[in-house]
Amino acid sequence: MKQIILTGDRPTGRLHVGHYVGSLKERVALQNAGQYDEIYIMIADAQALTDNAEHPEKVRQNIMQVALDYLACGIDPDKSTIFIQSMIPELTELTFYYMNLVTLSRVQRNPTVKAEIRQRNFEASIPVGFLCYPISQAADITAFRATAVPAGEDQEPMLEQCREIVRRFNEVYGETLVEPQIVLPSNQACLRLPGIDGKAKMSKSLGNCIYLSDEPEEIKAKVMSMFTDPTHLRKDDPGHTEGNPVFIYLEAFSRPEHFAEFLPEYSGLEELKEHYRRGGLGDVTVKKFLNSVMQAELGHVRERRKLWEQRLPEVYEILKAGTEAARSAAANTLHDVRHAMQIDYFEHAGLLN
Ligand code: TRP
Repeated sequence: MKQIILTGDRPTGRLHVGHYVGSLKERVALQNAGQYDEIYIMIADAQALTDNAEHPEKVRQNIMQVALDYLACGIDPDKSTIFIQSMIPELTELTFYYMNLVTLSRVQRNPTVKAEIRQRNFEASIPVGFLCYPISQAADITAFRATAVPAGEDQEPMLEQCREIVRRFNEVYGETLVEPQIVLPSNQACLRLPGIDGKAKMSKSLGNCIYLSDEPEEIKAKVMSMFTDPTHLRKDDPGHTEGNPVFIYLEAFSRPEHFAEFLPEYSGLEELKEHYRRGGLGDVTVKKFLNSVMQAELGHVRERRKLWEQRLPEVYEILKAGTEAARSAAANTLHDVRHAMQIDYFEHAGLLN
C-alpha cells in the first residue's frame, strides 16, 4: 500500500512555536526521510470558516501567512503538495455523504470539539458546520487515502472519528477507504507546549505565543517575561522544574550542542535541572540560555521566511499548482466513493435497472 501523508492547519493566524514542535518539525523530518510516496499539506480555510463565518477576510489574509510559515520551516514544494482546502469541492461532497454515517450524539461527544465549544462560548448557539468539522476532516484525510497524519495531540479525537467513518463506510459500501494513523512527536514536551504565561496551551486569543515570524528582540522579550516556578522567589530557593514552562521549552528545543555553545558550565539539561531544584540557579540565567537556544533554532526559519516573502508570486503559483494536483487526487477518491455507493448513475446503465 502507498504511504501517504495528509495534514494541515487552519489559517486563522501566523503559526507559532507550539505548531512548530508539535507538528511542523515532524512533517519536515518525514518529508526529508523520503519514505512517503505522496505528501499533502492543506491550508484548512473551509474548516477555519466553521467558526469564523463573519470574518472571511481574516481567513483569506492568513492563507499566505501559513504558506510562508510552511516554506519557512522547510516544507519543500518539490516533495510536498501544499494546497487550499476550499478550492477542492470534492472534499465538501465527501463530507456530505459521510454525514449520514455519523450520529449527532457522536459529534457532540468529540472531546476536542467540546473543549472548543466551551472556549468560544458557543454553548447556546453552535454553528452546525462547526459541530460537523470532524466529519469534514475525515473527508480531507480519506480523500487522499492518507495512511499517516502528523498533527498535534489535540487532533487524536479527529483521527479516532475519522477511523470510525472509514470502518463504517467500508462496512456499508464495501472496502473503499483507508484508515489513517496519527503521527505524534516522540518528545513529550513537544506534545503540548504551554504558552509563555504558563497556560496549558499556546493560543493566539490568549496572547501567549512566540510566532515563527517574530523578530529576535520579540523572542527575547517574550522569553525573558516567561512564567516560571512561582515558589522560586530568590535565586537560592529550591525550584521546581516539573511543569515549569521554561524547562518544558528547554526540553522541547535544546540539544546537547546548545550546552557546549551557550552554557558550557553544564553538561546538559539534567545537570541544569538538578541545580535549579537544589537552589542557587536564578531564572534569568535559565531564560538567557533558553533565549540563545530559541534564537539559534528560529533564526533559520525566520531567514527562510524573509526570502520567501520576497517571492510572493512564486508562493501563489506553488499554491495554485498544489491545489490543482490535490484536486485531481481527491476527484479520484470521490469517483471510487460514488461507485461504491452506486450513485455514479451515468457511468453505466445503472439507472435502467
Ligand atoms: N483541525 C486542524 C487544526 O485545528 C486542521 C485540519 C483540517 C487538519 N483538516 C485536517 C489536520 C486534516 C490534519 C488532517 O489545525
